[in-house]
Amino acid sequence: MKPQDLVFYQIYPRSFCDANGDGEGDVAGIISKIPYLKDLGVNAVWISPCFRSPGVDSGYDISDYRDIDPRTGDLSSFCRMIDAFHAVGIKVILDFVANHTSTEHPWFLEAKSSKDNPYRDYYIWRKTPPNDWQSAFGGSAWEYDAATEEYYLHSYAVEQADLNWENPKVREEMCAVVDFWLDLGVDGFRCDVLDQISKDFAGQNGNGPRLHEFIRELFGREKTKDIFTVGECWSADGENVRQLCGADRGELTTVFTFGHLCLDGGKFTTDRASLKEACRRLAEWQTLCETLGVINTAFFENHDLPRAVSRFGDDGQYRYESATLLGAIVLLSRGVPFLYQGQELGLTNSHYTDVSMFRDVEILNYYETNKDTLSPDELFARICAGGRDNARRPMPWDEISQDNFWIPDGTRRAEINARADLSAQRSVYRTFQRLIDLRKAEPALREGGFVCREITDDRFVFSRVTAEEEITLVCSLGKSTPIPSCEGELLFSNYEKVGEDLLPYQFVIFKKRS
Ligand code: NOJ
Repeated sequence: MKPQDLVFYQIYPRSFCDANGDGEGDVAGIISKIPYLKDLGVNAVWISPCFRSPGVDSGYDISDYRDIDPRTGDLSSFCRMIDAFHAVGIKVILDFVANHTSTEHPWFLEAKSSKDNPYRDYYIWRKTPPNDWQSAFGGSAWEYDAATEEYYLHSYAVEQADLNWENPKVREEMCAVVDFWLDLGVDGFRCDVLDQISKDFAGQNGNGPRLHEFIRELFGREKTKDIFTVGECWSADGENVRQLCGADRGELTTVFTFGHLCLDGGKFTTDRASLKEACRRLAEWQTLCETLGVINTAFFENHDLPRAVSRFGDDGQYRYESATLLGAIVLLSRGVPFLYQGQELGLTNSHYTDVSMFRDVEILNYYETNKDTLSPDELFARICAGGRDNARRPMPWDEISQDNFWIPDGTRRAEINARADLSAQRSVYRTFQRLIDLRKAEPALREGGFVCREITDDRFVFSRVTAEEEITLVCSLGKSTPIPSCEGELLFSNYEKVGEDLLPYQFVIFKKRS
């Protein structure tokens, strides 16, 4: 199967489905929802980390790469889950967190026990910080260890120590981790902040000089060269992308880049870039990747981002329309589309009302750092607009809240949940289903070139083109606006009627034989 034939769905296990009622999602819960995912039409899932972890960064602080956290399940249930996905033709990729481990990982416990411990060099230690790098979650990225009188690097939380990829033993260990999961049947990996594994201490924290060599060592091997890999690469520009996923490079299948989602100058801001700007950037990136001959990804959501319908659409009156429009843009784009759990229900931001409702280390650090300088209203508005907990609240399978869940519900569970959506006349899930079916049925949507026809304040129009056919998506970016003349057969719209004008957030899909 070619990468473009895949439609991914990201599962964030802690919040997905809690089968045993202990307040956290689990493997049994995931297994119980496989029919729901199969019916939706996705044929691949990315499972966010559920390895053993103290949970400081919700699983991205791993203390054992080869075991499943007991709150989620165990290795044998996890393998049953992989088999159950495979049995219905759904591929499974896991998160591979290669840049750092938990400070509870046995390697780090050894490393900090003394300067001459053999594991010391698995991490990055300095007598004095060589630069002023900041941790992504606030404060210096260098933490002083009083016992051994040196600083270690942590690009994320203090409890997430960066691995030293210059050490060949670390690289061997990481290859062995990859192989361990491949032997258990997984189909590939989403590689967490992969562009940070090689460091240039005199420059920025990312894109270091040995990045490509390290990636090839992992994924250019006989055993790994044909698996699916997607690197999370915040720093990647056009040239890096060609190097990272050019067909001849032996590195990655594709990358996540974030240009279209980083237009508003910071995560915690209420001054958000418009949908038009995001579409413009998305279209530029699509065109660039096509010119470079690389496979890109297409997405608006993941576990680190606010809900797209709240950020770019209208999560009130036009929630159904704007959620499905954003889905259409992703599912008709070039490359590999990724949906995030709950996006197919048009889930909105959480709208939490008190700081005690937040769980994310990044949000809580931001809150602590800014609570004395920003007004409470301003601080709260910023966290609600950009915070990661927007994406992490419980997946609402029905209207009933679970009191003991590790993170509270958003405000609208009674109204927005899977049971309600599936029986609604205007169901976001059913519209996503139709769009996925369309992608499967139309070669142009998988193989075709990307042609941007128009981006104005009111409309975004693009086509996917092969020698045989041309499929055009016409989108209203919020207002009523005339439909530009588009030849061809009308395939689908998120409104029942297609008139001369597009209605707010309406999309219309046309197909023309070339
Ligand atoms: C990116 C992950 O998506 C995010 O959730 C995590 O906090 C950081 N990497 C650190 O692992």
